[in-house]
Amino acid sequence: MQVKNLKIISNKEIFNDVYLMSVETDIKFLPGQFANFKVDGFTLRRPISIHDQENDVASFIYRVVGEGTKAMARLQAGETIDTLLPLGNCFDNNTKAPLLIGGGMGIAPLKYLARIFRKDGITPKIVLAGRNKDELEWFIKDLEGFGDISVATDDGSLGFKGRADEYLKTLDLKKNYYYCCGPTPMMKAIAKLYDYGELSLEARMGCGFGACMGCTIKTTNGPQRVCKEGPIFPAKEVIFDD
Ligand SMILES: Cc1cc2nc3c(=O)[nH]c(=O)nc-3n(C[C@H](O)[C@H](O)[C@H](O)COP(=O)(O)OP(=O)(O)OC[C@H]3O[C@@H](n4cnc5c(N)ncnc54)[C@H](O)[C@@H]3O)c2cc1C
Ligand code: FES
Repeated sequence: MQVKNLKIISNKEIFNDVYLMSVETDIKFLPGQFANFKVDGFTLRRPISIHDQENDVASFIYRVVGEGTKAMARLQAGETIDTLLPLGNCFDNNTKAPLLIGGGMGIAPLKYLARIFRKDGITPKIVLAGRNKDELEWFIKDLEGFGDISVATDDGSLGFKGRADEYLKTLDLKKNYYYCCGPTPMMKAIAKLYDYGELSLEARMGCGFGACMGCTIKTTNGPQRVCKEGPIFPAKEVIFDD
């Protein structure tokens, strides 16, 4: 883990309040890890997952939801951002039949994982779910060539009409190993559907590197910190609150 002032190459809105920020860094992330960004005027850093990394450029996708991300969205190319990186554990990409499942902003961390599989000559099956076509179109383009993509939308404006788990029930993918990132109800439903896979969890964070215990969740191995033992957990180990 290091603290660096990273130079921002670009920071642009890609669709409805969702931004793509690219920064210069030679520090290598593993897929599933995250960075913790310091924004002027805020004590706590904001955790954002690595979206992609190639050569010395790392990218992050974030939705503006509150004051911290609003301030991040105002940053301009050429400015620097105080960043703690790389943080957390990573996806275990040790399978020949990967199924990548992303819901909403949970799609953002999947590209870098897909890139690693493609490098090994493996084409992942990718299932993207969202409220509507507008929420998914950018991601579909971004993932073109990175896997066999199919889509489910709540309103039926693109692909299957319904939730990701409802769509997945129509497919024969029980032998695949899955990697899921999305809203908690979605991850809970997916964990019930399949035997083997991993979930990328979120929690409100304090320090981001294991010191404050603020991000602890319940697992079959006892309390675990999302920032340190996670954010990636074997799905079978996660205990969801009812
Ligand atoms: C490991 C990790 C990876 C993440 N990766 C991404 C990512 O790739 N893209 C992305 O858009 N967001 C990601 N998030 C969520 C992101 O950190 C929060 O949306 C952000 O910190 C909100 O900051 P804010 O100051 O704008 O909002 P705040 O004013 O702090 O909060 C505004 C709203 O955001 C919600 N919120 C705040 N923090 C979190 C959080 N940690 N998880 C979920 N909801 C939160 C609050 O409940 C509230 O509704 C990630 C979170 C974690 C823990
Ligand atoms: S945020 Fe401090 S221990 Fe995880």
